[in-house]
Amino acid sequence: MSRIDEPTRNALAAAAWAARAQAYAPYSRFAVGAAVLDEQGRIHAGGNVENAAYPQGWCAETSALAAMVGAGGRRVQAVAVCAESARPVTPCGGCRQKLREFAADDCPVWAVGRDAVIRAVHTLGALLPAGFGPDQLTP
Ligand code: THU
Repeated sequence: MSRIDEPTRNALAAAAWAARAQAYAPYSRFAVGAAVLDEQGRIHAGGNVENAAYPQGWCAETSALAAMVGAGGRRVQAVAVCAESARPVTPCGGCRQKLREFAADDCPVWAVGRDAVIRAVHTLGALLPAGFGPDQLTP
């Protein structure tokens, strides 16, 4: 069981679901929303933002992290990612690394579906085992 209480978990899932509605995904038509819970208990959310120059688009998790950093947040306690797909959606490899900068291995990552229903739970450490992090820059 996660150390995050149920109301907070549901609020995070709801924020990811709401952010998905504002995603800009005209090319893939695969809208994603993400929300992160910071060290102050605040929730920051965002959607994927695609671009006509396809590789220049970015993921929902990146938007949520940028919103957190812009608001002064520096630690991620929990993550929710929302998409509608047959299989629950987990962060892409690049976003796992971006999350690693701000989150510990035991950080829960919830895969959320339609109507903010939580479909799967992982930890960042399970999604990015033996990942490279800021601590490793120390000689
Ligand atoms: N995408 C995300 O925003 N987050 C993920 O975890 C997986 C993929 C976006 C990137 C692209 O805009 C669209 O989904 C299709 O890959």
